[in-house]
Parts: sequence; structure tokens; C-alpha cells
Amino acid sequence: MAEHAELTYEGKKFTLPVIIGTEGEKAIDISMLREETGLITLDAGFANTGSCISTITFMDGEKGVLRYRGIPVEQLAEYSLFIETTYLLINGVLPTRKQLTDFSILLNDNSLIHEDMQSFFQSFPRASHPMGILSSMVTALRSFYPELKVETAEEINLTVTRLLSKIRTLAAMSYKISRGHKVVYPRPDLSYCANFLNMMFDSPVKPYQIDDDLVKALNVFWILHADHEQNCSSSTVRMVGSGRVNLYAAISAGIAALWGPLHGGANQAVVEMLTRINRKDGGNVKKAVERAKDKKDSFRLMGFGHRVYKTYDPRAKIMKMTCDNILEKLHTSDPLLDIAKKLEDVALKDDYFLEHNLYPNIDFYSGIMLRALGIPTNMFTVMFAIGRLPGWIAQWKESADDPKWKLSRPRQIYNGPILTDYIPIDERKKQHTDSRHKTHR
Ligand code: CMC
Repeated sequence: MAEHAELTYEGKKFTLPVIIGTEGEKAIDISMLREETGLITLDAGFANTGSCISTITFMDGEKGVLRYRGIPVEQLAEYSLFIETTYLLINGVLPTRKQLTDFSILLNDNSLIHEDMQSFFQSFPRASHPMGILSSMVTALRSFYPELKVETAEEINLTVTRLLSKIRTLAAMSYKISRGHKVVYPRPDLSYCANFLNMMFDSPVKPYQIDDDLVKALNVFWILHADHEQNCSSSTVRMVGSGRVNLYAAISAGIAALWGPLHGGANQAVVEMLTRINRKDGGNVKKAVERAKDKKDSFRLMGFGHRVYKTYDPRAKIMKMTCDNILEKLHTSDPLLDIAKKLEDVALKDDYFLEHNLYPNIDFYSGIMLRALGIPTNMFTVMFAIGRLPGWIAQWKESADDPKWKLSRPRQIYNGPILTDYIPIDERKKQHTDSRHKTHR
């Protein structure tokens, strides 16, 4: 008999199949559990729950391994281009030279944004967060570029390419308009990454000088963010998509999920934390470490810890190296990088961090690299979103290609009041509302 697990409940034995992945990961298949036993499983935060079988990304959190379609992220960061990695994630294989050229042409052809969309940006209040704007604008794309039936491979390809190309134009446009500057259009002679930097920083009075090392650093940044299997935002894209909503709306939901400081918003939170340590605490990193350990204090060391990695995040290693290289190349230093290194040093010698397996994650160093590129702090998470878009699309496509794609609909254990009669308003006594809200960290 194939590998299986046994469950005994109310004196009866149930056999549950064990699914084994290509890298030896094992899961108990509980898809018949409720039908056979009347039971469901309960797993807060889905820490022990596999939501799908996927061929896209492999992670080994104990060993610090990350691979896209089997290829180590270290190799992709060194040799690949972001758009090549994008092709790999979405199509499952590395492109030939011709396929890559065709993909670049398609990205270029779809890089413009309908001019009427520019007026939307003007209507957001000045203090709006760029992630909120991006999420809204991606939803708005649907009105300007309605999805075709999304039935044939060509139709899907067009919608996907539009999203990949336009998200970069939208992000740069939003930045220019927020500064009251003239929008810079994409150029056909520039690569995906160079084009983005040019749209962000070129100005009629100060033409932007494309620097190959900065372009390479951005390439690496986006490759490292391109996918991370069933994280919060990718699971959101799959879940929202399972209602058969249009792709733009599913991606917009993914952007909203990424915004939070425990997920993609951590890159902004890290730089804000390092800035506070630098300015307010005179660079005293020990104070931050002590606060992070204090259970009465809601402060967490941002950029530390990960649900899956219980060792150093392999992306953080590359990001740290890229930061060093870029600052050296620019002949500059960043006090925040020095503080980050000191903080890492102290935390990694501390028993609390060792016992809890808390190591730097990608966000610990990524903000410092983005600062070096000149990206404003409130746009850091937007940079993450552009990088993660290929992963979201690949995850959505894998779900959509599955003939057994099911509506995502978890269950719950109800623990509220039992059957209670309605009380007319004049007969009600003052009631206590439940105010045990947990403040978010
Ligand atoms: N600082 C201090 N303590 C921490 C931290 C931290 N950064 N992260 C986890 N812990 C402690 C936590 O207090 C708990 O301790 P105890 O068991 O004694 O109560 C234990 O570690 C487990 O924490 P958890 O929140 O149950 O673990 P999780 O797997 O749900 O958390 C995490 C993962 C990323 C939300 C968390 O580590 C965290 O909040 N980190 C800071 C935010 C951050 O850097 N997020 C970016 C993640 S990487 C980018 C991405 O993929 O989005």
C-alpha cells in the first residue's frame, strides 16, 4: 500500500493518503476527511496547511534553499535578466533567444498607459500611500484594457504582458505626478529595468544617466522578489482568483495583501526602524534587540524572522552583498547599512533570536539597496510588488490551468453565542461589546 497515515476517531480507523513531492516533502491528504469523519482541521495562519500542489517554486526553510522551476535563485540572480526569470516562472521553462526577444517586443508594445489614467493620479490626496494607489490603478486597468475572453493562450498572454509592462509605467508615473513633475514615457531602446529607472528619474533639466551597475542591481532585486510560493499575497491572488474574478482584480488584491508590514511592507518598516535607531537612539542597536525580546512591548525587529525560513534567508545574503557592491560603486556609504550590520551581529549572538530561529529576511537589506538607487521610502513596497508580479501571475495561471480548480472556501469552528432570540430595542439593557482587539504589531 502506498504511504499513508492513520487516524483513529471514536474507535474507528481512517486511512489518509500521503502525498510526496519531487523534493521529498510530504503531506497528509485530508480532502475526504470531513466526508468520512465529520471532522475538519484547524490551523491558524495555515502554518501546517498545503493549499495546492505546485511546480513553480521550491523552498527548504531549514536549509535556506529557494529555486524557481528547479533553478537556484543564486544562479538566476547572477546570470538571468528579470524578464527572463519572469518568462521562466510564467511559462515553466527558460526562453530561447527568439522567445525572449519576442517577449521583450511585446512588453515594449504594451508599455504605454492610456492618457486618461493620468488624471486619476491627480485625484488622490497628496498623502496617499503608493501601494493604495497602485492597487486601485491595477483594478482601473480593467476598464481601459478589458480582458478578452481569456480562453486562448494568446489572450491570456496579452493580458499578462499588459500587466507586467504597465505596472512599471504606472509606478513611475505615480511618482512623477506625486512630485508635480512631467511624466516620462517608456523608451523602446531601454531594457525593462533601465526603462523603469529612466521613467523615475529622467527630467528635462537633468537627463538621467543610465548606469549598468544600478540596472543590474535592480535586476537582482526584482529576481529575488519574483516568487516565494504560497506567501500571503500569492495565496490571496489564488484565493481571490478562485472566485473566477478577472486577473486585474486578483492582482490588485495581491498588492493590497503585500502592503502589510509583516509581509512586503516590512522593507519600508525596516528603513524607518533603522532611521529611528540612528536618529533617536544614537545608533544603540542593543536597545532595539532588548525591546524586540520584551513580550510586553509590541515592537518586533523588522526584517527578522520568517514563517518558512528557520535559517538565513538566501535572498538576504545576495541582497546584503548587492548593497555592499552598489555603495562601493557609488563611492558612498549609508549609516543605515552600518546600523543594519551591527544589529544583525548583536541579534545573531542573542539566545532569544537563536532559540526562535530568527534570522534576517530579504527585507532587512533591500530597503538600503533601494535607497542607493534613489527610490523614496514610501515606494519600497511598490518595488516589491513589481518584482512579485510574475510570481502572482504564475500562481494564478497554475490554478486556472487546473481542470479541478476549486473555489477557495475554508471552514471554521464557531465559538460564538448559541441560539439567542432577538430583543426589541426598548427592552435592551446596556451590553458589553467585545473589545478584546489585539493591536497589530
Ligand atoms: N522580532 C522579535 N520576535 C519575533 C520576530 C521579530 N521580528 N519574529 C518572530 N518573533 C517571535 C514571536 O514573538 C514569537 O515568539 P514566542 O513564540 O516566544 O511568542 C515567535 O518568534 C514566533 O513568531 P510568529 O509571529 O508566531 O511567527 P510567524 O511565522 O507567524 O512570523 C513573521 C513570521 C515574518 C510574521 C515574523 O517573523 C515577523 O513579524 N517578522 C517581522 C516582519 C518582517 O520582517 N516581515 C517580512 C517577512 S519576509 C518578506 C515576505 O515574505 O513578505
